[in-house]
Amino acid sequence: MAVPDPTPRGPALPPFPAGFPWAAATSAHQVDGAVAEDGRGPSLWDTFCATPGRGARGETGEVACDHHHRHPEDVALLAELGLGAYRFSVAWPRVQPGGGPANPAGLDFYGRLVDALLDAGITPVTTFDHWDTPQSVEDAGGWLRRGPAHRFAGYAALVADRLADPVPWWITLNEPCVVTMLGCGPGEHAPGRTLLLDALPAAQHRLLPHGLAVQELPTAGAQRVGIANNHTPVWADSADPSDAAAAAAYADLRNWLYADPLLVGAYPDAWFAGGLPLIAQPLGCYGFYGLNHYAPTRVRAARQGSPFPFDLVQITGRPRAHSGWPVVPEGLLEVLLALRARYREALPPVLVTENGCGHADVPGADRTAHGPARTDFLRDHLAALRQAVADGVGVRGCFVWSLLDNSEWAEGYEQRFGLVHVDFDTLARAPRAPSAGCGEPAGRRRRRG
Ligand code: NOJ
Repeated sequence: MAVPDPTPRGPALPPFPAGFPWAAATSAHQVDGAVAEDGRGPSLWDTFCATPGRGARGETGEVACDHHHRHPEDVALLAELGLGAYRFSVAWPRVQPGGGPANPAGLDFYGRLVDALLDAGITPVTTFDHWDTPQSVEDAGGWLRRGPAHRFAGYAALVADRLADPVPWWITLNEPCVVTMLGCGPGEHAPGRTLLLDALPAAQHRLLPHGLAVQELPTAGAQRVGIANNHTPVWADSADPSDAAAAAAYADLRNWLYADPLLVGAYPDAWFAGGLPLIAQPLGCYGFYGLNHYAPTRVRAARQGSPFPFDLVQITGRPRAHSGWPVVPEGLLEVLLALRARYREALPPVLVTENGCGHADVPGADRTAHGPARTDFLRDHLAALRQAVADGVGVRGCFVWSLLDNSEWAEGYEQRFGLVHVDFDTLARAPRAPSAGCGEPAGRRRRRG
């Protein structure tokens, strides 16, 4: 994997197990482009980005990285970087824009991508739904209703019928918590609903299609099925019991609501009733548990007037990524240990399905270098991951987010997460080289990305 040696300082850690797959990830809305080709229908993200005042400066996924046309070049880049697996998502609106039968041209694109990966010796890992739900589903009430669960299961079966044989790893949903917590609660993401806590039914309705798909996918030949959940260590702002209670409530809503029903067959603290028989599939159905991790969250009791039972507090004293997220490598170890402690033998083998950081290009600097901030982030998080493996957490692989600079949803194209730099004027790709400043004291580093 084209990352620097993760142990330039500190005590030596044991090596990763032989065959540990190094990989990178993308998603359809963020990289594919070609939104009007192949008979693809609109997604709720297309609608959101086209709505004045939404999204980032009117930036859309219309072209994105043009991965749809340039995937042969991108597969060659994966091979050049020495990566063994590639996580991509199938765009539901490309494959089944309006319900009913599959759109053959849409499926053909993903068939070509999978063939190119296999020819290059790269394992495809496929996500069915990375947030770009068809607008037609949203028009029928979206994730606030139960109906889309069945339509999703039908769509997943169409994809699996075509691709299950060559694709060994399948991710049903990406970060279902975000659709509730950003898309339907405060409306910062598509579909832009502002229901606050009334958005909670969407959490359950996002897990129903997962349960249905897990039931049905083995029939279509999908071998290893899992979910990609985003987990964050939740830190109470003080030892005050009200802050501790707020942190526990946030951890339930952000972490456990999307994992407990799958792994222990119950909702945390009875946030909900119903739906469990469908959501809680036998543990043997899971080939892995996908963990997306970026940063911890600090929480305190809500001040008067807050619409939620908690307030988020900035974590200080840490470097920050361009997104504003604090850089806390040991958070990855903490979250892996917490998953193992909570679920014990019920925790399937873990794939870190996303980890990475976004930094803006600095004008005039060498844009194809990672820059010390990204290099340090990757090195230190890999060291934390190594520690988790050494501590016995069953981690089976790691996907860097992302292969390419891409559309960071409502933030547009400014936050660059790529191992590969993309020039969004020309769409030229350039693999980033590790920073020459890696490992030097901060004061001596060149100031870059
Ligand atoms: C998680 C999401 O899955 C991905 O789409 C996003 O770009 C990264 N986090 C970074 O925010």
